[in-house]
Amino acid sequence: MSEAEIPIELDRESNVSLAAQLASQLRKAILAGLLQPEHTLPATRRMATGLGISRGVVVRAFEQLSGEGFLESSGAGGTRVVVRPDIQSPPRKQQHPNRSLDSADLIDLTPGRPAGSPFKDREWRSAWKRAVSKDGYSDLPPAVGTLVLREAVAGHLAVSRGLAVEPDDVIITAGTSDALHLIVSMLRTRGDRPRVLVEDPGYPRARRVMRAAGAQLLTVPVDEDGLRTSQLAALKEIPDAVLITPSHQYPLGGRMAVQDRLGLLNWADQHNVLVLEDDYDSEFRHSRMPLPAIASLPTNADVVLLGTFSKNLSPWLRCGYLVVRGDAGRGLKALREAMDTPVAGVLQSALAHYIQEGGLSRHITRARREYSHRRALVIDRLGQRGNLELGALEGGLHAVIRFPEPKAAVVAAKALQQGIRVVPLADYYAERAPMNGLVIGYGAVTDLQLSEALNVLRSLLDANPSAED
Ligand SMILES: Cc1ncc(COP(=O)(O)O)c(C=O)c1O
Repeated sequence: MSEAEIPIELDRESNVSLAAQLASQLRKAILAGLLQPEHTLPATRRMATGLGISRGVVVRAFEQLSGEGFLESSGAGGTRVVVRPDIQSPPRKQQHPNRSLDSADLIDLTPGRPAGSPFKDREWRSAWKRAVSKDGYSDLPPAVGTLVLREAVAGHLAVSRGLAVEPDDVIITAGTSDALHLIVSMLRTRGDRPRVLVEDPGYPRARRVMRAAGAQLLTVPVDEDGLRTSQLAALKEIPDAVLITPSHQYPLGGRMAVQDRLGLLNWADQHNVLVLEDDYDSEFRHSRMPLPAIASLPTNADVVLLGTFSKNLSPWLRCGYLVVRGDAGRGLKALREAMDTPVAGVLQSALAHYIQEGGLSRHITRARREYSHRRALVIDRLGQRGNLELGALEGGLHAVIRFPEPKAAVVAAKALQQGIRVVPLADYYAERAPMNGLVIGYGAVTDLQLSEALNVLRSLLDANPSAED
């Protein structure tokens, strides 16, 4: 692979930042074919010295172009060009009306898929090297998780969530699904078929897992602001536990008001209901700050916080954690000890190194920048259009679009024929009649792909006169 020589001229008097100027000139060189996929770019430090600018400026320009899908960092191999100008704007769609689902160029906007970049991260690889270079692998990892990872999680929660947690309060899980399985199993030690109240709409996998583990589900209709205290008073049956997404209602995207949080804790304390706080993506806020976790509020109710590395790193890891306390905490730890851990020790060591060396928070900062950029793209392409309502934009890595017509399932099917996968909002509803709309995950696509997908969706929605401007 050859290293590219590109003439760059920066105007220090300009109002445009040096990073934006550099990104713009590199982008132009790629689009003009001067830079090709066989080219690597000079190391950031060398480019910075050559141009007489700080390395941070070069890093910002490279990150911008990586977010847009023009560049890719291959660790020690440097940064390379990934876009081929000659195949960048193919005459799309209509020639392939029935493109196969697994075709490589499917643009998959299924929610819950984060940026795939951490595995290419040099710090991630070095954390794994350290994890496998230690002697003595003869023991089983501790059932509740290794102490170093529990310490690292406690440290991460203190910084990212302002949550004061002792490592002893943490149980390492194989993600939220595993955590819910454990929780339902613990509730089953108290009574045969535990009842768990869930939000409708909500996270379908959580419902499936809890049902499979033996829970009986009760649903409560919610809007984007989640569960209201007034709804709890009207419940016909008191559940054993309630599962909520207070920081970012899934999938509608609002947040539960402070009064409702306090009301919920009061009610849970009175009726001895276990509160399960699914805090799946609160690190990614784009506008308002997240409210403090329910698990950090003073209460006598039992609250369990469910955290995951699926959104801030990757669901491929199958790793997460629980923050536990009280009777429920003791019950969960005892059951985990009895049932053993499904989480590999080597993964726990690598993750602990990655978190403690600051790799995770740097990755989150980079990903947050990428996501806010894509969120801006969604607002730019789909905002302010007739009957179309955009939601879930305050945080996370998905958006919800609602529209009266055409039917979301029809739009999703037509989009798929054109190589774009989106999920109808109806898939998240359990019992209530669903709202018409789509959920668009923008975590795992490049800006170019997202922009292309949004154009397709816009034209499908515009085909219906009532959704036009
Ligand atoms: C609401 C919600 N909670 C949790 C998760 C993460 O689940 P897991 O940790 O099992 O990957 C997701 C992933 O999409 C989610 O949407």
